[in-house]
Amino acid sequence: MSIKHMEGISKEIRHVFKLDTPNSTYLIGIVDEEGFVSHLYYGDRMKEDNYSGLLRIFDYPFLPSHNNRDRAAFLDSFPMEYPTHGTGDFRKDCFRIETEGGNSAVSLVFRDFEIKKGKPALAGLPATFGKDEEVSTLTLICEDIPTGIEYRLNYSVFEDLDVVTRNVEIRNRGSKNIFLTRAYSACLDMDNEDFCAITLHGSWARERKITETPIGSPMITVESKRGASSHQDNPFIAIKDRNATTDSGRVYGMNFVYSGNFMITAKEDQFGMLRVTMGISEEDFRWKLAPEESFRTPEAVLVYSNEGTGKMTRTFHDLYRKHLIRSPYKDRKRPILINNWEATYFEFNTEKLIAIAKEASSLGIEMLVMDDGWFGKRNDDTTSLGDWNVNEEKLPGGLKYLVDEVNKLGMKFGIWFEPEMISPDSDLYRAHPDWAIAIPGRDATRSRNQFVLDLSRQDVLDHTYESIASILRSANIEYVKWDMNRQLTDLGSAYLPADRMGELMHRYVLGVYSLQERLLREFPDLLLENCSGGGARFDPGMLYYSPQIWCSDDTDAIERLSIQEGTALVYPLSTMGAHVSDCPNHMTGRITPFETRGHVALAGTFGYELDVTRIPEADRKMIPSQVGTYHKYNDLVREGDYYRIASFRENGSHDCWGVVAKDRSEALFTYVKVKAGANERRRRIRFAGLDPDRIYRIEGEEGEYSGDLLMKAGYLVPNMNGDFRSRLIHLS
Ligand code: GLA
Repeated sequence: MSIKHMEGISKEIRHVFKLDTPNSTYLIGIVDEEGFVSHLYYGDRMKEDNYSGLLRIFDYPFLPSHNNRDRAAFLDSFPMEYPTHGTGDFRKDCFRIETEGGNSAVSLVFRDFEIKKGKPALAGLPATFGKDEEVSTLTLICEDIPTGIEYRLNYSVFEDLDVVTRNVEIRNRGSKNIFLTRAYSACLDMDNEDFCAITLHGSWARERKITETPIGSPMITVESKRGASSHQDNPFIAIKDRNATTDSGRVYGMNFVYSGNFMITAKEDQFGMLRVTMGISEEDFRWKLAPEESFRTPEAVLVYSNEGTGKMTRTFHDLYRKHLIRSPYKDRKRPILINNWEATYFEFNTEKLIAIAKEASSLGIEMLVMDDGWFGKRNDDTTSLGDWNVNEEKLPGGLKYLVDEVNKLGMKFGIWFEPEMISPDSDLYRAHPDWAIAIPGRDATRSRNQFVLDLSRQDVLDHTYESIASILRSANIEYVKWDMNRQLTDLGSAYLPADRMGELMHRYVLGVYSLQERLLREFPDLLLENCSGGGARFDPGMLYYSPQIWCSDDTDAIERLSIQEGTALVYPLSTMGAHVSDCPNHMTGRITPFETRGHVALAGTFGYELDVTRIPEADRKMIPSQVGTYHKYNDLVREGDYYRIASFRENGSHDCWGVVAKDRSEALFTYVKVKAGANERRRRIRFAGLDPDRIYRIEGEEGEYSGDLLMKAGYLVPNMNGDFRSRLIHLS
């Protein structure tokens, strides 16, 4: 068992809990008299030892039991596992309340603990999972005596990966209502040893750019208050040694398994200590806990690496592929799809789609996905969301006819929905104006001409579910692209009472999860791809329901380099929706070789997003060989270990990444030369992750090289003329 409990180590320390993964140790200490739950250590794995010296109880002003006069000064610097508000810790806390009397102070005192094999599911929430022999769970049971709040701080420790996950369950054991006004999931209190933070920042069509910020006294915040995890900030932070690289140095990665508002902060305090916090954002959050009600925070995942960011990345990838994604597709090749969005936008009909499907199937493409515009009167984005009935003017003969025709070509069929939305111009809105999130008497803000459905209501959830499910039941539909194209504003629910209005944001996310869970229960073989105006909900919460997420609406191969680099820092390549699109690119106007577009999309799920009946003949001719390359390498790309070799974002000239088979028998590196130069020599690329003692052959080339040589001396990439050129380098 990877969790050890030690008792009576010293007079001041009642219990120590040691959480061991293959390469990391996480230590928690319980202060004897006061019952404080203290963070002792997180880092390289340690052998058995006497840990009492790690407890910061001999730092002035000493424990309150020794010096109660300076209790606030003590609480304001002591490393805590779950700091609470208002009793003397003036740093960013994880938990605050509002009582019926209007007070906010609350404390946390240890009472008891449990250690169990396995990891309980978090009802209604996405979370990592594992068998009893793969993971064990420590629960620290704590309380705030005056209010009767009971806390269960859960820590799950994985046996085979350097991962500790956390979440908190809060129960009102008192006799009065309590309002939670902040209930985070995790805190990390450590000495700041010249750390910096890596975060993923961006915008629509520019998601997840890797950003590095030194940690100091100004607070770093990574947050979303938009209702989705957002294009702007991803629910991720890594704290790393300032000089850590892709393969050396300490890195602490934290990722939040949640798809709505979140808040992550990192700040150095007055004594040079670092505190990182992570949880649901307190903005627009106020949760009523009546007596005996409980609240469960989403899960925070902590990954430790002492081999740089690369090892952190590979740990996240392994964790998510093995212990988060549940889809039957997770270990399977996904059908190569062609999506008609960039091909036709709203202007299509059965005839057009069948023409695309015919051409696509003859080239080896395996699935047609019909995007936005097939329902209601939707010929642009002003109308019909919520009216999920087939527009027979566009699709004469209905959906069944179209799907059957596509199936006859040997292709699967997939469909687009935006189930969470309602257009003001829709039959649904005319019948149920109160189903939209809005505040009576206030003209609600429209975004992309639409409103958001109030998914805190069971009647809305049931109706929404039935309208999607009945479409899926009506024809052989094997894939759904589930979109979400606007942010939440004007937070008002006609259903929630005033004292529960602050629950809307979180209840909305729980509603989304319940819909997707229901969908997968009725259609267990469905391939679900989440999407949110491109990549505004690319988070581990959604991966629990869908094995892939549309990475970005920006399909330009060069823009995609840094979007996919940032995404792959945390999320497996098998989860990144990536398609080859037409040029000039609709977003950037850039013209890139068709081959390069293919190589970049191969790093994700792979597919096409173009009108295959109209692209240049030379491009079309290349599709069968791209399809062949996908089939040849996808097992490796999907399941291999990912290595970042060079970053165009950093060097301004070229990009390179690779995937190496788990047994290191095979590897595929992708090299993209972004900018051509004159009179240049071949560029040397040092590979990584290979077996130094093995001899590798490079596909299509003469000669053999040891892994040792390829990693130390490197490989000279043959020159390629022109901008935006790329090359796949396959080693076996
Ligand atoms: C979003 C998606 C696109 C497309 C459109 C349709 O922007 O990200 O891929 O589906 O919606 O309206």
